Amino acid sequence: MKKTVEDIDVRGKRVLIRLDLNVPLDDARRITDDRRIRGALPTVKRVMDGGGRIILMSHLGRPKGGPDDHTKLSLAPVANRFGELLGKPVRLVSDCTGSAPRAAVAQMSNGDVCVLENLRFHTAETIKDKNAAEDTSLREQKEAFARQLADLADVYVNDAFGTCHRDNASMLTVPQLMEGKPRVVGYLVQKELKFLGEAVSDPARPFVCVLGGAKVSDKLGVIRSLLTRCDTILIGGAMAYTFLAAEGTEVGKSLVEPDLFETARNLRKEAGDRLRLPVDSVVAAEIKERVATQVSEGPIPAGQMGLDIGPKTIAGFRDVIATAKTVVWNGPMGVFETPPFDAGTMAVAEVMADATRRGAVTIIGGGDSAAAVDKAGVADRMTHISTGGGASLEFLEGKPFAAIEVLDDA
Ligand code: 3PG
Ligand code: MG
Repeated sequence: MKKTVEDIDVRGKRVLIRLDLNVPLDDARRITDDRRIRGALPTVKRVMDGGGRIILMSHLGRPKGGPDDHTKLSLAPVANRFGELLGKPVRLVSDCTGSAPRAAVAQMSNGDVCVLENLRFHTAETIKDKNAAEDTSLREQKEAFARQLADLADVYVNDAFGTCHRDNASMLTVPQLMEGKPRVVGYLVQKELKFLGEAVSDPARPFVCVLGGAKVSDKLGVIRSLLTRCDTILIGGAMAYTFLAAEGTEVGKSLVEPDLFETARNLRKEAGDRLRLPVDSVVAAEIKERVATQVSEGPIPAGQMGLDIGPKTIAGFRDVIATAKTVVWNGPMGVFETPPFDAGTMAVAEVMADATRRGAVTIIGGGDSAAAVDKAGVADRMTHISTGGGASLEFLEGKPFAAIEVLDDA
């Protein structure tokens, strides 16, 4: 167990809080989903009410050094949204290092909140420790950058669940450098670790996992890990076609990963009938709204590709989920952004909402599945929707998070 923001006194202290404010923005730079901001509010409010001086930091997107990065990937819309939600002005500091944050922090009073500009405007933020270990200059760059952040504060809080699988400077080097000062987790990280942790370590059974998405290669680790723990794995999305093709089923021009055929066959063998694949698919010649579709059982005709699970598969998955006591879902069942290929994904969302109603624990891994649950209008009917995509996947794989391990034990 890690110390939390609840275990420390923050009055008058400068509290550096790493959040994952990497929210989706539209072309006009409006936030299209503020779940990660809302998810961070309890921690920010707690420190605010406790009289701390709050310095928020986050990345946004993956700036590549392009000329308009600084406008497109500025945290300005996020700082504004925080201000609205907290009901007080939240200042955006123009840079996360240099004189600007030092001056801003020096002027803060207890309960004030500021947001440092996008950490990834500095390439040092994302230098991997593996590379830093082999290259002194990279190590020095990463440490010098982290040192400037660490020197701003008396307390470090990690409430950035969505980034906990990264060894970014702000996630790992900064708390390493702040040894001796309080380093704790926030409420969001605490909650994510609790729900995801309990789901996989001590699940109420039957424990069913629903996995989808495009690639088997992205989900290999999680399939292997979940196979040892869960009762049934339901597989949809394009990744199903790699499994089917590996066993000799014709899949037309569906997306497949031939170099994983052998792995897929072995996983199937190992899992037996605990691993369930689609028995029918919605197929079409291209991914386009309102394109002509067909339902195909068995082989998919040449020139066509599987783009969603079919009605028999939906019915079969529904039966399995209907008796589950724990359901974890990661990855859409089809190309749900493009109707009509959203039917399978929407159906799974509905079935999970029903499962919650009859008392099952329902957990949504972040990213696409969270977006799907929103689109289906059932977000408030799940036990827990993770704010981490990659992070929830790596957690379910059983990978340790160095960014959490470095923090103080309770
Ligand atoms: C995410 O959205 O997955 C997190 O914010 C981490 O971002 P990253 O994958 O660019 O490190
Ligand atoms: Mg990611």
